[in-house]
Amino acid sequence: MTYLITGGAGFIGSHLADALLKRGEQVVCIDNFNTYYDPQRKRRNIAQAIEHPRYTLIEADIHDVTAMKQVFATYRPRYIAHLAAMAGPRPSIAQPVLYEAVNVGGTVILLDLARHYEIRSFVFASTSSVYGRTTKLPFTETDPTDHPLSPYAATKKAGEVLAYTFHHLYAIPITVVRFFTVYGPRGRPDMTPFLFVDKMVRGESFILFNGGENLYRDYTYIDDIVTGVIAALDTELPFDIINLGNAEPVLMQRFVALLESITGYTAHIDAVPLPPTDASITFANTSKARQLLGYVPATHIEDGLMHFWQWYQQEVLPTV
Ligand SMILES: NC(=O)c1ccc[n+]([C@@H]2O[C@H](COP(=O)([O-])OP(=O)(O)OC[C@H]3O[C@@H](n4cnc5c(N)ncnc54)[C@H](O)[C@@H]3O)[C@@H](O)[C@H]2O)c1
Repeated sequence: MTYLITGGAGFIGSHLADALLKRGEQVVCIDNFNTYYDPQRKRRNIAQAIEHPRYTLIEADIHDVTAMKQVFATYRPRYIAHLAAMAGPRPSIAQPVLYEAVNVGGTVILLDLARHYEIRSFVFASTSSVYGRTTKLPFTETDPTDHPLSPYAATKKAGEVLAYTFHHLYAIPITVVRFFTVYGPRGRPDMTPFLFVDKMVRGESFILFNGGENLYRDYTYIDDIVTGVIAALDTELPFDIINLGNAEPVLMQRFVALLESITGYTAHIDAVPLPPTDASITFANTSKARQLLGYVPATHIEDGLMHFWQWYQQEVLPTV
């Protein structure tokens, strides 16, 4: 059976590809290696996978209908993990048209192709950002998501809604997974902990909203996310929306203190007010994931950050 991963050279996609290859699956990855962050980093993410006989890389844009048609016709995927996106709430403010084209337009192209094939499970990567600013904790899938704080969050909400429509009209089995701040080796350079550690190592200051006070993120380790996505692919649910988080929000002041103690470097913080694009807390209710997917996140923040730091020392530190 062939698994199609869009955004397969990215942080989460490359780990998912490795895990599926390890399990013996046929993996086709689509990625356009855009410059949202250094494309060489994405090349390094897949350096091992690309040598694998069961791995195929297609360098293409999901917004290119002709290219996508060809991929589907050639590889006839049974499982799709749609992870390709312009990610990041704050940069989306400057490029709402691009975010809409990729995250909404690209998603519709894939959904519209999927209906012509025998897809057993289509997993769409959404985000905790759809919950916006809410005082109701933890975030539960039935909570309102009608007030996204950024174009990015709005495009992901649009993707969720379109996914439902395509399921309704064509019975495509679709699972929407809402990721909560994913971290670990190969983590995106625009996200913590990469951003913070990089600045600490260079002796530079970095922005921390509210100085980390009253600011919590439900950091979820990459291996737990990959386990959750594979469970979603395997379970072949008709249609569901499921949180994949850690259900243990970390106070950002503690997060920075942990980074200092793990790396031995000092953090120089520029405290600025929380921007309107961001919520002060993310906190996943993972009961539904446990019930439907058997998902139980297993990585504590201390261990996950240690794995991240080990990777950073090997892969990034020599180039700093
Ligand atoms: N990392 C997180 O904490 C997090 C949280 C919530 C949701 N998500 C979602 O998970 C998915 C994966 O995120 P990630 O952190 O691995 O990001 P990433 O940027 O590392 O990976 C996304 C990949 O998609 C590719 N891509 C982007 N636009 C494309 C296009 N038009 N055509 C083909 N490829 C394209 C990029 O080159 C990149 O390699 C995204 O949909 C993101 O919105 C991530």
